[in-house]
Amino acid sequence: MKGLVLSGGSGTRLRPLTHTRAKQLLPIVGAPILHHILDSLQDAGIKETVILISPETGNLVKSSCGDVWKGMSLEYVVQDKPLGLAHAVSTAKDLIGEEPFLLFLGDNVLKGGVKKYVNEFESKKMDSMVLLSKVDRPQQFGVAIFENDELVGMVEKPEIPPSDLALVGIYFFDKKIHKIIENLKPSKRGEYEITDAIQGLINDSVKVHHMRVDGWWKDTGLPKDLIEANTLLLQDIETRIDGQMSGGRLNGEVIIEKGAVVENSYIEGPVYIGEGSVIRNSNISAGTSIGKNCRLNTVDVGNSIIMDKCTLSAVSYPMSDCLIGEECVVKGNVDPRLNVVLGDRSVLEVPD
Ligand code: DAU
Repeated sequence: MKGLVLSGGSGTRLRPLTHTRAKQLLPIVGAPILHHILDSLQDAGIKETVILISPETGNLVKSSCGDVWKGMSLEYVVQDKPLGLAHAVSTAKDLIGEEPFLLFLGDNVLKGGVKKYVNEFESKKMDSMVLLSKVDRPQQFGVAIFENDELVGMVEKPEIPPSDLALVGIYFFDKKIHKIIENLKPSKRGEYEITDAIQGLINDSVKVHHMRVDGWWKDTGLPKDLIEANTLLLQDIETRIDGQMSGGRLNGEVIIEKGAVVENSYIEGPVYIGEGSVIRNSNISAGTSIGKNCRLNTVDVGNSIIMDKCTLSAVSYPMSDCLIGEECVVKGNVDPRLNVVLGDRSVLEVPD
């Protein structure tokens, strides 16, 4: 089977960070979400993957992922406008051909990857399968409808949800889905919905199987989701110190990449520190990922994502739940209650 990863869309809910990049390239635990997705497809034994890109950010995605990912070949297709997930599938149809495929939304993160679901789909020779997860606010997702334990339908972002089981952004299809999409009409919000296409399969008496995901799953639509996905993924890291540590103390699971230097600092894991970053006289606490080549001096940061080449110095309050874009500068009397989200190359400086 092939992989199809959707890396189009406009990412409006993650502005300003998405003014300068595709949302699928935002990093968690030191790598773009898209790289984590490609890892999980490759790990599941998939040999060919198509990445759907937008005209605006497609080149950034291409140069970030290349033509081959750890032996898995990558092809790209441009979707001119984000007209919906089913439209995205039809845009990629010629590259997918007649093969069954796994559709992976490029902003989804799933604990433990997709290997066991791929095995289930392939070994049972299914026509179609969806993954489901219990959520607190089903109104924000596609929601499954059950009758006597049987999946009989699904509805996109319903005001009154028929269940609390959301459709995870990972779907398995065979070629029958293409015919259904050809005849699909846009939804009330003007998009060609994959949820409607799956409903079309059910209406045509195609068996749509389902599996509940057993670990956590995150759709990283909003800044707080990205921070949460980072925290969750950090829970699985194992300590690896390839950089240098002098003075201070480490506790819990911590990764310090090569070329990174940690001096006179207290690191309370799980924490990730990227290549070439220098941390001095600071407290870095659980749930924090720091990108490459950052400079942190006399700061207290927890549960945050700091992207590459940032400088944080002499920040007088602890910073928590922050999302700091690339090459940002933060210094001075910054109030932590801001829950800062800074776009790339921003400066946040509050003098005394
Ligand atoms: O995350 C799970 C949810 O994903 C499902 O429960 C919903 O049923 C499904 O419709 C979808 O809802 P979202 O509102 O989260 O979809 P979003 O518009 O955020 O798009 C998901 C990804 O697909 C995102 O990485 C952008 C990309 N995309 C989206 C559209 C609409 C495209 O590449 N092209 C598109 O036309």
